Parts: sequence; structure tokens; C-alpha cells
Amino acid sequence: MAIEPYHLSLNNQGHPSNGGDANMPGGNDDDDDRSDTDSDITEVDAAEIPFYFTERDGRLFHSHGSSPYPLPVDAAEQNRINGQHDLLRQRMGGIYVDRGRVIEALRPSISRVRKVVDLGTGTGKWVLDMAFEFPDVMIHGIDIVPIATMHPPDNVYFEIHDINTRLRFHDASVDIVHARSVSMAVQSYPALVNEVARILRPGGLFLACEWGRCAAMENNLDPHHLTPFACRFYHAVAETLHRSRGLAPVANYLKDFIESSGRFDRVECKRIIMPIGTWHRDPSMQQLGDRFRQSLEVYVNSMQLMMIQAGRDPVGVRELVDGYVKEMYTVQGMICYFYTVQANCCN
Ligand SMILES: C[S@@+](CC[C@H](N)C(=O)[O-])C[C@H]1O[C@@H](n2cnc3c(N)ncnc32)[C@H](O)[C@@H]1O
Repeated sequence: MAIEPYHLSLNNQGHPSNGGDANMPGGNDDDDDRSDTDSDITEVDAAEIPFYFTERDGRLFHSHGSSPYPLPVDAAEQNRINGQHDLLRQRMGGIYVDRGRVIEALRPSISRVRKVVDLGTGTGKWVLDMAFEFPDVMIHGIDIVPIATMHPPDNVYFEIHDINTRLRFHDASVDIVHARSVSMAVQSYPALVNEVARILRPGGLFLACEWGRCAAMENNLDPHHLTPFACRFYHAVAETLHRSRGLAPVANYLKDFIESSGRFDRVECKRIIMPIGTWHRDPSMQQLGDRFRQSLEVYVNSMQLMMIQAGRDPVGVRELVDGYVKEMYTVQGMICYFYTVQANCCN
């Protein structure tokens, strides 16, 4: 297992393998902005890193006691999320949908350094790209496992924290919160939206984005006839996540969750289409679709393990997975939806 030691951790709520957050030994004085936060942060000791992970069925998972997150966090999964970051950047022409709104939220202030928080940061690619683009902005990436680099640029902090619990940032102290592909990490998305609204300053920007977990076809064709295995696969995934981890679909409800909190305005939703496979007429979309299909195969295999670990019949699960993968290579017009919502806090 190749895991680099982490840059830093925080805060004062117990060790992840005991179901709390990190409270690693050895403090430092690196906290950039204690006035903006509720707690001190302490450096993760390299010797403690293995305790953030646990091995099952040949894959490495987080050892956190209460996060519902079901996917592995090992090298194969890290490659997958890195690859998806690159695919999305190419598909969207950047790492967010609307540069104007990001620039507006990060307009320099004479009173303080602008601050961005990325929830469920993973390997931290989004954070690192943001830090490069906005060198005068402080970017915090938060996760329950230390899988980001231990050598981030000066304007980046990677932190260990459970995003289902109160964040360490003070009320109205953050300019942008970004949360991408965290739906399976979050016990209650409406609760997360409220916590995001608490830490965002009035006018601060929430960027939320999630992959749809359902079968879909271009031109709104009905997937039930064309890709029956994909439909059954996602149905089984949804049932298993709900039964075994209490997780409900989030992607196509993002806008509703954010609007119904009553704490955001200028709520804007975009649904981006990602082709699966090489069927698209446009050569650049063909290339994207080819790479996306590879990444989806890794995801589907991890979901297969999740369903078997949750007690589903292994033979039935393998049949679904094999059928879905075969459809990816034979059915023209398969797509995935990527939902993005941007909204300004109106606390
Ligand atoms: C699918 S990955 C997405 C990573 C990153 N946002 C991206 O888009 O590349 C989900 C991440 O959420 C993290 N995660 C799971 N449960 C969490 C929790 N309770 N608090 C913080 N992060 C969590 C996982 O460790 C994983 O790195």
C-alpha cells in the first residue's frame, strides 16, 4: 500500500478508528488562521497513518467508525478519482462550471485572506488546482483518510475530519465551499447544507456536484429496454446502500436540498452529460467516453464488492456487473449525468 504521510490533521474529537476524528499526537504552530476556527490542528504522525485504514477482501477501506462511505480508498480508487477529476476538467473546461461566480466570491479583501473549503477532498486534486489558480487564497481539503500529498503548496491545508460533524470553521468565515462526489460520505445532505451555510459568509458560494447513480441514455431514450442490466445494477446499488448504510440518492435532489434550506439564493443547476464508451460522433467526446468507461468499470467493481459485503447473493451481483459492463461495450448512446449546483449564501 503506497500512502504518503499527511500534511496535517486537526482537531479534538478522538481517533478515526474509534469512530471519531483525528487527534494525532504532536502539535505544531502551523494553523494559518486560528481566529477563524474553533480548534487547534495537530500534525498527523506518519506512524499513525495505518490506523486510518482497514483491509477487507483485498481492498483498503477507511477505518472511521461512523462514516457510511462504502468505497475503498486504495491506489486503484485513488487513480479512479484522479482520473475523474481530469475527465471533468476536460468536459467542463475547468474545475467549476462558472468562473465568474468563483472570481466574484474570491475578490480580494483588505480585511482577510480569502478561504475555500473542499469537503471529502480525496487525493486533493481539486484543491491543488484551485491553489495553483488562486495562489493568494487559502484552500482547506477535508477528508477522513490521509490520501492527499504531504507536500502541498503553502496556501493548502489538508485536514482529517468527519464532514458529518460540526466543521471547525467559525460562522461566516469561508468564501467558497466545494463538495464533489460526497453523497455516499454524508449521512444527511440537508444537515450538511445547513453546516455549509453556517460557515459561509453572506454571499459566499456553495459548489455542490454529484454523479447520478442511475442508467441513462442520450436523447432521453428509455434505458429500461436498451440497458436492462445497467438499470438493475443501479437499482440493486440503491437498495443496498439504503438498507445497509442508510444512504439515499442525492444527485438529482441537490438543488431541492439547497433551495429548501432557505439559506441560499441564486441557485443554479446544470446537468452535464458524460458519454460511456466510444459511440459519440465528436472525436473528443469519444476519447472522453473511452476513458470514462474505464473509470466506471473500476467503480462498478467496487460497488460489486460493497453489495456482496452487504449480504447480496454473489452470483446474482456478478451477473449484474458482467451484464452492465457488456452493455458499456455494446450499447450505443449510454451516458452518465453529472449534476452541479452553485448557490450563494444569504444567511
Ligand atoms: C468519491 S471520493 C471524492 C473525492 C473528491 N471530492 C473528488 O471529487 O475527487 C469521496 C471522498 O469522501 C471521503 N469521505 C468519506 N466519508 C467522509 C466523511 N465522513 N468525512 C470526510 N470525508 C469523507 C472519502 O475518503 C473519499 O476520499
